[in-house]
Amino acid sequence: MHPKDLVRQQFITRFGVPPEQIAMAPARVNLLGEHVDYNDGFVMPAAIDRATYVAFSPSSSQQSTLLAVDFNEEATFTAQSVLSKTDAANAPLPEWARYPAGVQWALRDAGLPVPDIQAVFASDVPRGAGLSSSASVEMAFAVAWQALGGWELPPMRRALLGQKAENEYVGVKCGIMDQFASACGVADHLLLLDCRSLEWRALPIPPQVAIVIADTSVRRKLTTSGYNERRQACEDAVAALSRDLPDIRALRDVSLVDFNRLCGRLPALVEKRARHVVEEIDRSRQAVGLLERGDVAAFGRLMNACHASLRDFYEVSTPELDAMAAIAQGLPGCLGARLTGAGFGGCTVNLVEKTAAGAFAANLAEGYARATGLTPEIYICRAADGARILMD
Ligand code: GLA
Repeated sequence: MHPKDLVRQQFITRFGVPPEQIAMAPARVNLLGEHVDYNDGFVMPAAIDRATYVAFSPSSSQQSTLLAVDFNEEATFTAQSVLSKTDAANAPLPEWARYPAGVQWALRDAGLPVPDIQAVFASDVPRGAGLSSSASVEMAFAVAWQALGGWELPPMRRALLGQKAENEYVGVKCGIMDQFASACGVADHLLLLDCRSLEWRALPIPPQVAIVIADTSVRRKLTTSGYNERRQACEDAVAALSRDLPDIRALRDVSLVDFNRLCGRLPALVEKRARHVVEEIDRSRQAVGLLERGDVAAFGRLMNACHASLRDFYEVSTPELDAMAAIAQGLPGCLGARLTGAGFGGCTVNLVEKTAAGAFAANLAEGYARATGLTPEIYICRAADGARILMD
């Protein structure tokens, strides 16, 4: 059953009446600009046609009740218990409930009225696959609470509050990309975001290409610590480089020329991490012009270079992601292939000539299964609109 129908049905079973509304928020795939959002760089994600759906009504009691269909678990919390990350009975909130609870906390912290809710939610976004299932949960609940609270925030503002929830409540020091893409997605478009100014625009996906997502079926491990460590290395690099470059605020401000001149002063590991970021920001600057000119072949080469850099310098790839990218890069019609999202497991994103996409997906699945013994999931995705209330 589609998750939208599932949440409606389960809501009726659980609460005895139909939900008043259904909110949805898409996941995202990122084409270029990986691990640069928290370095004030440029990212090029698209919202995709996989999403989280929340069936909801205002709560008749002084607490919020959430049923997570995908976990077959329920959590109940109050405005007070949320502050200590506990449920209404004082037990720690389960991990999955921290995302919606964190959003409630962040919205209230911003001074918005956030009524208690009763909700049932489900998703067809694979978890831990690098497609931002958590941001889609956050943005779906942000839209639900907006509808219940009777206020309206610009999508970017909702994204920032979702990021705050994840940074300060859940404890992952993520950048703005995922929540932004989920909140601001535009059908059939890539989003180009300057993560410093937060200015963005949508670029049409060139009609001759398809975006193919290939899930290695290996889930992420140790993401939070690995992710936060990478972020720390970037901050260490800025601190060290600012002795020679006093005006820099982030790695975005370091040119490739300056980096190559000064990188010898950095500890070896910090140098590798920072090299990925400085070069990736350079690639994403080039990529905009290439896309505007429709040069998808050169764009694809930048994606391949990005994968190599994530593997060798940022060290967030895995043998399965490397196999998936390498096999794809050798197939007819493949313009570029690389891991997408934080890494440590999950999916690759592939830019493929549209006419070749069907055969590409079949050949990639077969080649990957032969190489690894694992069964991947491969699908051609459509860029989708951002988080919203669904109209029936
Ligand atoms: C995760 C984070 C994003 C971004 C990517 C890597 O998805 O949530 O903010 O840093 O990793 O590009």
